[in-house]
Amino acid sequence: MTDALVETRGLTFAYPQPTGVLFRRPVPRAVLKKIELAVPRGGALGLVGESGSGKTTLGRLLVRLLRPSCGDIVFDGVEIARMSEAELRPLRARVQMIFQDPQSSLNPRLRLGVTLTRPLQAFGRLKGERDRRDRAAALLDLVGLPTGFVDRYPHQLSGGQRQRAGIARALALAPDFIVADEIVSGLDVSTQAHILLLLKELRARLGLTLVFISHDLSVIRVLCDEVAILRHGEIVERGRVADIFDRPQHAYTRELLAAIPLPDVEPGWLDGERTVITKCHQGTAA
Ligand SMILES: Nc1ncnc2c1ncn2[C@@H]1O[C@H](COP(=O)(O)OP(=O)(O)OP(=O)(O)O)[C@@H](O)[C@H]1O
Ligand SMILES: [Mg+2]
Repeated sequence: MTDALVETRGLTFAYPQPTGVLFRRPVPRAVLKKIELAVPRGGALGLVGESGSGKTTLGRLLVRLLRPSCGDIVFDGVEIARMSEAELRPLRARVQMIFQDPQSSLNPRLRLGVTLTRPLQAFGRLKGERDRRDRAAALLDLVGLPTGFVDRYPHQLSGGQRQRAGIARALALAPDFIVADEIVSGLDVSTQAHILLLLKELRARLGLTLVFISHDLSVIRVLCDEVAILRHGEIVERGRVADIFDRPQHAYTRELLAAIPLPDVEPGWLDGERTVITKCHQGTAA
């Protein structure tokens, strides 16, 4: 047995088809086919592939926002693929998904202090208003945002700050496992670097296990130990990031590598950003 926190075996999924004209219901088409993955405890796996290859669908399956058509998902030694919502409840505190658009997790009508602590409230882990403010301030601090942001609304933040707030909300329940779906896409390169460095630090500090979805292999390279290349719902290649970069086996992987927008990025490029991040902690976060 591997020491995987999350593992899939023969994971297959088709979206349910809408009911068509009588007798003409289309046959569901599998968008993921027999996916075999293992994410080691504390490890970071990158998922890469072209648009429509099934990355988001796979991410949603791993945190059981979707139910697989067949195959297994084992989380911390327990088979969760067919669990009911009631059975999944304890797991809901341990796994989180962060999306590209933090608007989906940040309610525009609520101050951050309320939004960030909503998950704690849902799990009965808040001890009143004072505790709410303290916990929200601690979460903001964790992601390098000023604690005074508890009273701000999402529209009063920059794109990078909103993404930090989205990460803070995902961390509220101190999860073990996070799926981050294209969370730096759409941000400028410098802000991307800040967010990636933040995730790298949080991963080390909190012992997080990470699945990081991106169409950009250069982003995967700075954050992940391993990478799986997805194409038309199948994994065409997977392995250590360094090996895939040095010796891509599949023609499709070579195509992806050729398409990297920042081809000469050094593996340690983020480490040079440390001084900027320190400034972020002092309240000038990107
Ligand atoms: N809710 C849905 N209902 C039906 N089909 C869907 C649904 N969501 C996605 N699909 C289909 O499933 C396939 C995989 O989609 P998915 O969103 O997982 O791809 P992706 O790799 O995340 O793409 P992108 O890089 O554009 O985000 C696509 O063919 C898509 O059209
Ligand atoms: Mg997607």
